[in-house]
Amino acid sequence: MVNQRNFIYLVIIFTGGIISFSSCAKDPDLDLPIRSCGTPYSVEIPAGTPPMPIPDDNPMTVEGIELGRHLFYEKMLSGDSTQACAGCHLQSKAFADVNKFSIGIDGFAGTRNAMPIANLGWSEKFFWDGKANSLEELVLFPIQSEVEMHESVFRAVNKLQKSEKYPRMFFQAFCDSAITVETMSKAIAQFMRSIVSFNYRSNPVLGKDFRNSIQQQGLDVFEDETKGDCFHCHTLTTFTTTFDFANNGLNEDPSLDPGLATQTGDPNDVGKFKIPSLLNLRHTAPYMHDGRFQTIREVVDFYDTGFHVSPTVSIDISKHAKDGKPVPRLWTEQEKLALIAFLNTLEDTALINNPAWSDPNQ
Ligand code: HEC
Ligand code: HEC
Repeated sequence: MVNQRNFIYLVIIFTGGIISFSSCAKDPDLDLPIRSCGTPYSVEIPAGTPPMPIPDDNPMTVEGIELGRHLFYEKMLSGDSTQACAGCHLQSKAFADVNKFSIGIDGFAGTRNAMPIANLGWSEKFFWDGKANSLEELVLFPIQSEVEMHESVFRAVNKLQKSEKYPRMFFQAFCDSAITVETMSKAIAQFMRSIVSFNYRSNPVLGKDFRNSIQQQGLDVFEDETKGDCFHCHTLTTFTTTFDFANNGLNEDPSLDPGLATQTGDPNDVGKFKIPSLLNLRHTAPYMHDGRFQTIREVVDFYDTGFHVSPTVSIDISKHAKDGKPVPRLWTEQEKLALIAFLNTLEDTALINNPAWSDPNQ
């Protein structure tokens, strides 16, 4: 006999089955959910690159990406409708900012250097201190930040709803012309995932080689543990970073700017920051979370003799120190210049010039 409790349980399972069947119908050939709107889009990546993880609830579509592009360049998302995401993330600068600290709509500067945007579909944590766990979540931070766009997300959505073009574009992307905070952030996240950067001279998966050149010598310095020793953190995969967090020795007292520890509360994370990609350094100056260095030369000199040893500094930095002070590395001036020449091969002009990521209003 089925008692009443079991019966209720069965009913829930049964209706749950119907709901999940109707919303998660599968394409038998591809084992993918059948989409009811939008044209599926897949990011083109070179063979040998790991597939980009895409969240199940935000598959990429041509229409979603195009909408996200319009929103990325949309000034209405800011409090006084003067600043778009693109105001601080300039395509011509590999989506970074030329200012040490970006200036928000109220004329105030933040305390962090704007980060470049490329290959972020492979990253799991965002911002210098890792405070966002997905690109969808990230979008809400700059819109609401007092030193950035300083707008309520609900007012931003309202403005979009009243505009002429957006209800139609949201309908095309999400089968719903009623705009929500969720669909707005999903579209911008799709656009950011579409921004990939592979087309640089020394990309290992493209197998480009430059043997016997100064750039090759610089690559050797990058990998030599007695010289540059850079590859542990800035891996030589196509992303030039592990997307992990590390303390590279910028501050003598890392608790002055705890970085990742502000999110995790873990004392071992004090002074750790997101390891940036080294792509397009030629365009992304100034460097580091606080934009303290203007040139790649200053960065290289910092790793040679300018870093600080502290309790949380990475072993890959502290092993180049003795009695708490940096020991100059075994590299010649010529090798330092070669390292810089190698770093400059990480330039992807296709990223900077791709019309698909440019301002749709121009
Ligand atoms: C006023 C300048 C400014 C505006 C406007 C702005 N950003 Fe940023 N962005 C920054 C700064 C500064 C950081 C680093 C902040 C931090 O880590 O605390 C950043 C970080 C990011 C990152 C993190 C990248 C990574 O590798 O983790 C992404 C992605 C991003 N912004 C996207 C956006 C989007 C999308 C918008 C519009 C909704 C936007 N930004 C608007 C300045 C700005
Ligand atoms: C222990 C890991 C580690 C090692 C080793 C390391 N880096 Fe870094 N690198 C980082 C981190 C973390 C940052 C960001 C630090 C911050 O801003 O707080 C960074 C930042 C940079 C930047 C600035 C990029 C930007 O967009 O602001 C450059 C350039 C750079 N590193 C180059 C190098 C070179 C060249 C080497 C070898 C000589 C090297 N790094 C070794 C972890 C490391």
